[in-house]
Amino acid sequence: MASSFSNIGAICKLPSAPSISSISRALFPTTLCSYRHSRISRPRSRRLCIRSSYAGAVRENPNSDAIDVVADVKTERIVVIGGSGFVGSAICKAAVSRGIEVISLSRSGRPSYSGSWVDQVTWMTGDVFYANWDELLVGVTAVVSTLGGFGSDEQMQKINGEANVVVVNAAKDYGIPKFILISVHDYNLPSFLLQSGYFKGKRRAESEVLSKFPSSGVVLRPAFIYGKRKVNGVEIPLDLIGEPVEKLLRATESFIKPLNSLPASDLVLAPPVSVDDVAYAVINAIKDDDCFGIFTIEQIKEAAAGVKV
Ligand SMILES: NC(=O)c1ccc[n+]([C@@H]2O[C@H](COP(=O)([O-])OP(=O)(O)OC[C@H]3O[C@@H](n4cnc5c(N)ncnc54)[C@H](OP(=O)(O)O)[C@@H]3O)[C@@H](O)[C@H]2O)c1
Repeated sequence: MASSFSNIGAICKLPSAPSISSISRALFPTTLCSYRHSRISRPRSRRLCIRSSYAGAVRENPNSDAIDVVADVKTERIVVIGGSGFVGSAICKAAVSRGIEVISLSRSGRPSYSGSWVDQVTWMTGDVFYANWDELLVGVTAVVSTLGGFGSDEQMQKINGEANVVVVNAAKDYGIPKFILISVHDYNLPSFLLQSGYFKGKRRAESEVLSKFPSSGVVLRPAFIYGKRKVNGVEIPLDLIGEPVEKLLRATESFIKPLNSLPASDLVLAPPVSVDDVAYAVINAIKDDDCFGIFTIEQIKEAAAGVKV
């Protein structure tokens, strides 16, 4: 059975007085997202007030031509659970490139490869089930969880569901304003297949995010994610398959649309998404206070396009 949250779209806070435009935004959340992404994000949470060193002198001498410069600088500090993984590392890299302070938590800690962005991440080693949240979450403005994986039914429920639930509750307890979960597309699967530990775990995690962070939780539901996956120091170029498939599906979109209603058709027809698009959709969610809810594959791409240079 599909999740009870399956029809909640990616939405934004609307103005209190309803208007025709607000109603149309509510009816067409994708359009709303385009509007949202195109405007400047509202600053949130931790701020630094920087006053120029000569400001005092200006006040003492009001006739001076100098200007009292007060810069309002927004600082973001995020924790990426699984920052050493395929998707997590792309998120860390994109966040560092945007001047965001990044802390990663994973059992393996710092990855073995090098890079200037790698040196700018604080790599913590630990298991979410035994994490020292005091060390990790104080002063953090958003938590991003990439936790997930395969195995026996029980293992899949644990890593996709339970582990994420633990992180969501820790973030809630520490008053973190924003939570972003990397979940998965449901591939239009019949309900009995969605009962596997993988999907059950994912939907349980989604429910937890959306109930504990009702007006700021973000759930991204990508299908196949392509990019360069590093496994034991070897780079696997998933983009060699993912990129052409994505282009082909986009080019043939109008022909294949009628097939979308067939059960499980999305196993073949759901467009792959690049790991960079997933990472930039996360950056968009971090930067935009008004962005929350479930993001479909198309909405992930749209959100990414709004922040990519
Ligand atoms: N890749 C895809 O095509 C795809 C498609 C759709 C959705 N997704 C979802 O996207 C998410 C990320 O996928 P991915 O491919 O990047 O997976 P991944 O490479 O396996 O990354 C998972 C990360 O989680 C960490 N982790 C696992 N268990 C942990 C624990 N108990 N405590 C702390 N850290 C733990 C792993 O590091 P350690 O093992 O060192 O702890 C790793 O850094 C998953 O939720 C996945 O289901 C992926």
